[in-house]
Parts: sequence; C-alpha cells; structure tokens
Amino acid sequence: MTDTVPFAGRIVLLGHGTIGRCIVPMLRRCFSFDPAQLHAIESQSAPDPFAAHGLEGATYRVATVERDNLDQVLGPLLRSGDLLLNVSMGVDSVDLIDWCHSRGVLYVDTSIEPWEDTHWNAGEPMHRRTEYAYHQRARQRLLGEPPRGGPTAVVTHGANPGLVSHFAKAALLEVAESMGLEHDVPASREDWGELARRTGTRVIHISERDTQRCAEARRPGEFVNTWSIPGFVEEASMPAEMGWGTHEKRLPPHGREHAEGPCNAIYIARPAANVMLRSWVPEGGPIIGLALPHSESVTLSDYLTVREGGRAVYRPTVAFVYLPCDAAVASLHETVMRGWDMSLPQRVVNEELVDGRDELGVLLLGHGAGGWWYGSQLSVAEARRILPGHNPTAIQVAAGALAAAAWAVRNPERGYCEPEDLPHQEVLDMARPWLGTMASRATDWNPLATAARFFPEPGRDPDDPWQFGNFLVT
Ligand SMILES: NC(=O)c1ccc[n+]([C@@H]2O[C@H](COP(=O)([O-])OP(=O)(O)OC[C@H]3O[C@@H](n4cnc5c(N)ncnc54)[C@H](O)[C@@H]3O)[C@@H](O)[C@H]2O)c1
Repeated sequence: MTDTVPFAGRIVLLGHGTIGRCIVPMLRRCFSFDPAQLHAIESQSAPDPFAAHGLEGATYRVATVERDNLDQVLGPLLRSGDLLLNVSMGVDSVDLIDWCHSRGVLYVDTSIEPWEDTHWNAGEPMHRRTEYAYHQRARQRLLGEPPRGGPTAVVTHGANPGLVSHFAKAALLEVAESMGLEHDVPASREDWGELARRTGTRVIHISERDTQRCAEARRPGEFVNTWSIPGFVEEASMPAEMGWGTHEKRLPPHGREHAEGPCNAIYIARPAANVMLRSWVPEGGPIIGLALPHSESVTLSDYLTVREGGRAVYRPTVAFVYLPCDAAVASLHETVMRGWDMSLPQRVVNEELVDGRDELGVLLLGHGAGGWWYGSQLSVAEARRILPGHNPTAIQVAAGALAAAAWAVRNPERGYCEPEDLPHQEVLDMARPWLGTMASRATDWNPLATAARFFPEPGRDPDDPWQFGNFLVT
C-alpha cells in the first residue's frame, strides 16, 4: 500500500449501496482520519454499517437528496475543505458540483448523472439522453472558457469510466515501446493525442467480461447482477454511444452525429441493450458485448483528438463492449422482454459467489503492434483475499473512486476534472493494490477473425479490419 492520505476535513458519502459499502473499508485503510469525520447519507436504512470497520463515531443518516433539499440535507455536514463522495444514483452531478463549488467543497463521483426523471423521460430528445450531452452540460456550466478552477471536482472516476482512461495511457506507452518509437513521456493532452496518432491506434475498446457465478442459479423472473441493477438497466435503455474515429468511412445504421460541441461521439438511435459489438479479453477470449453508453467513450476520444487548424485530423473510435455475467445477461433480456419492467425482484451477488472474475481492460487496435490489452483480471478468490465481503466489480470501481479522492485531497484547487486530466501513474499506483492480477499483452485478434460466417453483413469491410462495421453485429 502507498502511504495513507491524511485528511482533516469531513468525508460525506452520498449513497451506501454496492460501491458505497465497498469504499468504506478502503478509506479506512488508505486515508488517515478521525471516524467522527465520516458521514453517510443514504435513502435506505442499514443497521450500524460502520462498527465492523472500526469506525465507531461515524454517522449514518437516512435521507434522500433531491433537487430542492441540497442545503437542507448536505448543508449541515459539508464546509469548505470537506469532501463529498457521490456514489448514489439519479442525483444530478452538475447541480451537486455547483453546490460544492460555491462552498469550497471537494467532489468525486463515479458516474455523471442527471436527476432520475430525465433518464426515464421518453419525451426528452434522444441526443440529450447521451453521455455526450451530460458531459457537454457539465463542461459548459462548470469548466468555462478560460477554465474557472476552484475546488477540485472529479467526475466519472470509478473503474469504467475512471481507471480505464489511465489503463489506456499505460497501454499506449507499452505499444510505443514494443514498436520501438522514440518519444518523451507525454505531459499534456496534445502529447497523448500525438503519441496515439504515431502508434496508429485506430480503435480503443473498453472490453469487459464478467464471469462471476454463484451457487444459487438465477430464477426466471429474477434480476441478478454484480453491481447496481438500476444503473445497469438505465445504461442499457439509453442509445448506444461511441467516440467516433477519424478513420471511419461510414456511420452505422441508425447512427447520428451531434450538432454542437466537439462532435467527437456518435449515438445509435436504438437502446444499447440491442446493440452488440465484437471484442476480445485475454482470459474470456473473443466476446460479443453490449455497446453501452459510457463517459470514457466521450472523454477519452475527445482527449486523444489531434486537431490541425481547428479540424480533427486524428481520433480513435472508443467504445465500451460489456459482456455482463451470465445471470445479468439473462436478467436484462427478461427485463427488456417485459417492456423494461423494473419491478423484478433484484439480487446483487456478493458472498454467495463461487468463482469467476471481472476482466476489465482496454483493447488498443490497429497500431503497429497489432492489438494490445491492458487491465485488471480480478477474480472472486483474489477479491476475498484483498477485501473480504466485496465482489471484484465493486472493488475495481471503488479503487478508482478511492484514487480520485486521494488525488483531489492532495490537489484541492483543480476545478472540474474528467479522468484523463488526472496523472495516470499516480492514480494507477494508488489503485493497483486492489486490482488483483493485471495483464498487459499483445494480441493478434481482429474482428474479421470472429465475424459471422453464414450470412453477409452489410457493414463488413474486409479491406480494413478496424472499420466500425466489422465490429458491429448485425
Ligand atoms: N464508474 C464505474 O466504474 C461504475 C461502476 C459501477 C457503478 N457506478 C456508479 O456508481 C454509483 C453507485 O453504484 P452502486 O452499484 O453502488 O449502486 P447501488 O444502487 O447499489 O447504490 C446506490 C445507493 O444510492 C442510494 N441512493 C440513490 N438515490 C439516492 C438519493 N437521492 N439520496 C440518497 N441516497 C440515494 C440508494 O439507496 C443506493 O443504496 C452509480 O451511479 C453507478 O452508476 C460506476
């Protein structure tokens, strides 16, 4: 473990669900603070959640944060120099950060969220129900031009989004080395974009396969997952979304471009639950996963864009390809079959897991080293040794949030930050002890190798394996 992070302010945890429960013992190990400084605000009650971690004196308040009660619920707990760690669902990140900024409070979250009703409002134009739109809104209100600085607020810093942006930088350095490219360690976004361009990286997948399994099989009509069920269903109900590379020749069927902002991402006017992409992970092999909308597709593709004369001349396609655990695949299918019925009984599995792993990393493709995967292969057995009582998925996410919180405390005046703005090595050093087995390795996989054999696919481009149409399952 790295040195503990001394913190004299209060830490307020908003949300004490799968990730909130997991991060408490991690904070205990990695931060030095008086337990009386720790407070949780959570809609649901929980019997004495802190005593087991030696945190007598920490408080737990049952309350629901809403649009019009921020002062009332957060006001008594948070003062200048304190930290709000938001791991709730459906609480607007931008409104929370605005509130924190005006009071000098540090802020970290793992997902950029609007208020809950926005997601489920079918009347909201589709382009506004995208991660691209959420980030544009945050940047316009919080970043400003020139950037307005102020108390540090790190958004979307769990595992993915979050750690995967740092995995991508680490992988780029490995690819450059294996290609024998001479370069300095990049010090700015322009340098990282230039390095990505020089390697020839055309596609970055955040490729994840979850093989966690529990003894009690999923019953028909039950929703089983390894993390937030509402969070997963919400993402699956949004349009599929990806950062759009400058090498792409044509939009996919139902593909739409944005009209405002950097226009580095596109969305597909179909629920992400129905949009599948081919990808690959080292242990799990070739996968076909959901093209879920995720912040990193938006922020990482923007960060790596090289512009000349205001025009984007290089950008990789960046997409999240997620194969959830088998029980979650069946559960989502059942939810969609029932017209997005969210009333199924829910079970987030943890202690009852018997084996499997969450294999989560980045797959860089099209560069001079062929393909390269870099990431965490945290297994259930490893997770039990590292942090008993928590599953691999929760530990990976909480490790990202923990690292962001440590960085925010050490760098309290950086204003609005997306994951790519943080120093990748420092973040990885902090997260590394929690991530179990790590892999960094070359692969010769390409999407044509596992393409459908029996039917022609309209988007297939045999002359260029890295075209989006070769990854898209149609
Ligand atoms: N970046 C990543 O890697 C990553 C991965 C998984 C989850 N997440 C995000 O982390 C967050 C937490 O995920 P989780 O799996 O712990 O979810 P969860 O559903 O298990 O827990 C969320 C908790 O927040 C509480 N809550 C919801 N709204 C609230 C409100 N208005 N006021 C107070 N409490 C409220 C809920 O009661 C619940 O206990 C979600 O936003 C999710 O999308 C990020």
